Amino acid sequence: MRVVVTSDVDGYAADLLVGKWDSIRVLGLATGSTPVNVYGRLIQRYYDGTISFRTKRTFNLDEYLGLAPNHPQSYRATMVRDLMQYVDLPDERFHVPPGISDDYAAACTAYEDDIRAAGGVDLWVLGVGVDGHIAFNEVGSARDSRTRVVDLAESTVAANVSYFDDSDDMPTQAVTAGVATIMDAREVLLLAKGAAKADAIARAVCGDESADTPASWLQSHGNCTFLLDSAAAAGIVNSAGADATRAPGAGGREHSIEFLD
Ligand code: PGA
Repeated sequence: MRVVVTSDVDGYAADLLVGKWDSIRVLGLATGSTPVNVYGRLIQRYYDGTISFRTKRTFNLDEYLGLAPNHPQSYRATMVRDLMQYVDLPDERFHVPPGISDDYAAACTAYEDDIRAAGGVDLWVLGVGVDGHIAFNEVGSARDSRTRVVDLAESTVAANVSYFDDSDDMPTQAVTAGVATIMDAREVLLLAKGAAKADAIARAVCGDESADTPASWLQSHGNCTFLLDSAAAAGIVNSAGADATRAPGAGGREHSIEFLD
């Protein structure tokens, strides 16, 4: 795992994605507030002719259970608002887990099959929850978990309820790609900003790999970058020292830290 600390998470992430654009056929995406400005930068690069989505395929991490695709707070609709309405990705190449299904188990298996049939995810952009969740893999999520229906943690509901006009409309369950689904991606780029994420990030990088902090499973991913602002990195810096270039991890592992500014 590589840790990069920068005051310009959005710009660094967008540059990294654009730099690899030709080698990314299948892009994994996240909703949530963290990547929105990265998507804004990608839209700019699309408008200035640097990149096209026409031949890409995208898979989103998760969707609220029970929300129809056209519900304004569904993650599908959110992704359309934040990115897809502006770019040239064909609709049939834009995949989001099913929020509504007659048979969720079959639909979750089909989502995994679709990812596999596409050749797997080349790079998955992730956020992280204040409890250390990745996608909606809440505390307790096993490393071998796959796409499935999950209950949302109270902290997750609290972090997202403000997006709903009526708090009673906030779903308490979701369909999420599993930890193993994410670990299968050839590259993972986890973004975190702000002090609220510092504890989760410190546990994910420097703690044991454990279901107590699902993001910690990424320590054993061979090609994973945590891209952090200094507030989100504060807990790691406390363990490693401000001028350190290595952070301790589980099992005697060390992770490189680069401070860009
Ligand atoms: P956020 O959510 O980007 O809105 O902070 C991230 C997450 O919960 O995974």
